Amino acid sequence: MTVLLVAALNRLIDKTVKVVKAAGLVPVSIETEMLSMVRSLTDASKDIILFLDLGAKSVDIAITDNGRLCLTRSVATAGEALTRSISSELGLEFAQAEEYKRAYGINPANLNGKVAKAIEPAMEAVAKEVDQAVQFFQTANKGKMVKQIIASGGTSLLPHIVLWLTKRVGVETEIGDPFKKVVASDLLQKLPKESRCLYAIAVGLAMKEI
Ligand SMILES: Nc1ncnc2c1ncn2[C@@H]1O[C@H](COP(=O)(O)OP(=O)(O)OP(=O)(O)O)[C@@H](O)[C@H]1O
Ligand SMILES: [Mg+2]
Repeated sequence: MTVLLVAALNRLIDKTVKVVKAAGLVPVSIETEMLSMVRSLTDASKDIILFLDLGAKSVDIAITDNGRLCLTRSVATAGEALTRSISSELGLEFAQAEEYKRAYGINPANLNGKVAKAIEPAMEAVAKEVDQAVQFFQTANKGKMVKQIIASGGTSLLPHIVLWLTKRVGVETEIGDPFKKVVASDLLQKLPKESRCLYAIAVGLAMKEI
């Protein structure tokens, strides 16, 4: 039997429950974001998959084997750090640096590679953590290989990030679609395809009791 133990600070849980109640909702259960994300993005494949939630303040990493969560870790470098790097390297206000980040991304062909160059050191820090997670998993599970990376979260919209991660980590990377497993409503048709990955945690949480 395999047991998954999850620990969280009481302070954090109390605060979250308070916010949910203040919004007039009744919380029925609590789980970590990674569990929700993995639920909505995992398909029927039995492969070993590395999930990335590329957020604003942190990047969360999870590895699943046959749909089962085996490893998680978090890096305190994400979207905000990328914008800060562009801001300081190119001498721009934060808001303008954010626009540059979203327009040019990590594509060396854009703006003479100036934006890509500014954000590469922060992305490299993320990639190093991904490397370590892969190595840790593969050392503990001899003969098993991480087959794919599935990314979600706002920073996964960074132009060129899929190609950059595939090349740098050496593992095929794609952006996750949490609506693959659910019946699409009319409302969903109006949602731009590229922003579907922003709902991975919300959709996974909604699928919990199904
Ligand atoms: N088109 C885009 N290109 C690049 N980055 C983007 C784009 N759209 C949003 N982002 C970045 O995504 C980040 C927000 O993502 P997300 O909503 O997943 O974060 P969060 O869940 O609030 O943060 P965290 O998980 O760190 O607490 C911001 O840093 C924002 O700049
Ligand atoms: Mg997040």
